[in-house]
Amino acid sequence: MHKLEKFNYALFGNPIDHSQSPKIHDFFSKQTGILHIYKSVNIPIGKFSSLVSVFFKKNIQGANVTAPFKKEAYFFSNKLTKRAKIAQSVNTLKKINNKYILGDNTDGIGLLSDLLRLKFIKKNFSILILGAGGAVKGVLLPLLSLGCSVYILNRTVLNAVNLVEQFKNYGKIFFFQDKIFKNKHFDLVINAISRNIEKKIFLPSSFLSDKTFFYDMNYGLKKTPFINWCSGIGGKYISNGIGMLVFQAAYSFLEWHNVLPDTDYIINILNKK
Ligand SMILES: NC(=O)c1ccc[n+]([C@@H]2O[C@H](COP(=O)([O-])OP(=O)(O)OC[C@H]3O[C@@H](n4cnc5c(N)ncnc54)[C@H](OP(=O)(O)O)[C@@H]3O)[C@@H](O)[C@H]2O)c1
Repeated sequence: MHKLEKFNYALFGNPIDHSQSPKIHDFFSKQTGILHIYKSVNIPIGKFSSLVSVFFKKNIQGANVTAPFKKEAYFFSNKLTKRAKIAQSVNTLKKINNKYILGDNTDGIGLLSDLLRLKFIKKNFSILILGAGGAVKGVLLPLLSLGCSVYILNRTVLNAVNLVEQFKNYGKIFFFQDKIFKNKHFDLVINAISRNIEKKIFLPSSFLSDKTFFYDMNYGLKKTPFINWCSGIGGKYISNGIGMLVFQAAYSFLEWHNVLPDTDYIINILNKK
């Protein structure tokens, strides 16, 4: 049983054992001096709405939401920020005046901030995204807004096609077909396939160049299969998703407390691990 009086911010997901978010938020709380006690809560599948309502009726002022509940959080929210509305996916909830719950999505600003920090992105880049799940919905708007052309490659074709349909009014977005785009070279490849999916080949090397940047939204104590693959094919510019995790957390903190915490120190600490 969780002692509700002991924490006022939470991460809701299933599973959440791997999460570094409590550590990041603990750091932000100490750095800013804001009382912000953040804990992970594993929510059983099918219980999101009923359990999260109880938490918000008690002590919880705000929460992050991770897989597989970002769509449910979108429907749970009473009001939405513009970016969450367009993404139809929510990773940040905030109780406003004890009256209603605002839903936001900070995944996109989190990814873009990290790509800019790494100098992995420029205006008008050609970007291939592997995967078409909740995280991709959150990140498409800022990438398209930068004038980048975004191509989606996904195991389930229909999910990729639906994403293209959802975002086609916001920029240049395509469903990737290797036969149609056979002469294409990508500036940036972003992996958003669920963590630890072992694949021998993520993409034929004909679509890459020696200047291609590789970004894995996943991260972990060990190198991810995607990062091992990138190294194996001679990729020079490779990053895991720790920076995105820290930046999306920082922008959630901003939403809750109107203060944007410093991110460099904690990114370095987590990367050293
Ligand atoms: N660094 C960060 O801050 C951050 C933020 C958000 C997410 N993430 C990470 O990004 C990953 C994706 O998150 P998500 O929320 O988008 O998850 P999700 O909604 O569950 O989507 C999972 C994606 O992986 C694909 N997939 C699953 N198993 C596969 C397999 N065996 N072969 C090929 N493709 C497979 C799915 O394809 P189908 O459509 O065919 O099912 C789908 O596109 C997660 O590992 C998550 O931890 C990191």
